[in-house]
Amino acid sequence: MLFNPKPKMKREELYDREYELKEIKNSLKKGVGLVTILGIRRLGKSSLLNVSLNELPYRSVKIDARKVYSEFGNVPREALARLILRGFLKTSGREKARTLIRNIKGVRFLGMGVDVETDKSVNLHEVLERIDSTNERFIIAIDEAQYLRFSLARYPELIAWALDELQNVSFVLTGSEVGLLEDFLKMHDPNSALFGRLHVEIMLKRFERYQSVNFLERGFAEIGMDVTKEEIEEVVDELDGIVGWLTLYGYNRYLGLGHANALRKLREDAKKLILSEFSKLKNLSHRYELAMRAVANGKHRWKEIKETVELLEGKRIDDKNFSNILNNLIRYGYLEKTVGGYLIPDPLVEHAFR
Ligand SMILES: Nc1ncnc2c1ncn2[C@@H]1O[C@H](COP(=O)(O)OP(=O)(O)OP(=O)(O)O)[C@@H](O)[C@H]1O
Ligand SMILES: [Mg+2]
Repeated sequence: MLFNPKPKMKREELYDREYELKEIKNSLKKGVGLVTILGIRRLGKSSLLNVSLNELPYRSVKIDARKVYSEFGNVPREALARLILRGFLKTSGREKARTLIRNIKGVRFLGMGVDVETDKSVNLHEVLERIDSTNERFIIAIDEAQYLRFSLARYPELIAWALDELQNVSFVLTGSEVGLLEDFLKMHDPNSALFGRLHVEIMLKRFERYQSVNFLERGFAEIGMDVTKEEIEEVVDELDGIVGWLTLYGYNRYLGLGHANALRKLREDAKKLILSEFSKLKNLSHRYELAMRAVANGKHRWKEIKETVELLEGKRIDDKNFSNILNNLIRYGYLEKTVGGYLIPDPLVEHAFR
């Protein structure tokens, strides 16, 4: 159902995103080696990725770089090699799998099946070359790929090499911390490995108002619930096209809450979630939180945000240091810089910091 709160897997559960889905599928069918899916949190990047992979006739593996990072504190190449190989071998028969990875350094089979273990001596180039040699298209999808920056391995160089040398392997990378992923891949930096490489970029946007309204109407029709026009208007006014929040509101209604309670519960749950996601930045410097609070409370110009933070902190802050704080908030997707000054793109994030 449309209000299923997990990332969607099937086309029927995905509202719209027709254009993006087509773009991703066509690019991969044409053999484009790198597709990026970008956008702030909860716009449906993982869902779009899942559905795309499901609809394509190719073998693929999906790796959650955030999860690997939280397990190891970085993204070691042996972990990545293991996940890629497991994804690749899962659908190969035992004999085929054994032949395929015979004599790859640092890779060995676990038991009698097709499961593999890897160690530090593994070479990802060799792994990818071997997969490429099967002459079947294979897609390596990495969700929250900005976490790849936590590694001694130089993944942008690896991807650049794969784009040049391999015929059958493509990468799809998603990132909610858009600025961080862009800084990491450096597609636009003439000194970097990926500079100027052909790739397709999908930037997910918030739903337009009519889409949000239609999404809710269809979701409620699907579960046979009558919801008034006023309720829908109020939800859409407050959640501003962020499909993840619209979905959770619908799910709360599905579970039996009335309109006001569903919205209240959503705000409370969202606040907890947002502040816990934010804690990694807050641990780096309390100024991140102070700056967010200033913007949430109506300060939008660089100077007035800085003055508010200085007031809250009780001391003067160096200009350059303060610009770094705001630029990092942009890189992480918490702020946007517009002609009207610094804004918070997600209304519930704004609410959480008010
Ligand atoms: N097009 C869509 N139609 C229906 N539901 C959607 C759609 N896109 C996303 N959702 C729902 O919105 C929520 C967030 O989706 P998803 O996890 O795919 O987004 P995301 O951009 O990957 O988020 P995050 O940045 O937190 O990883 C989920 O509940 C998902 O089911
Ligand atoms: Mg996601």
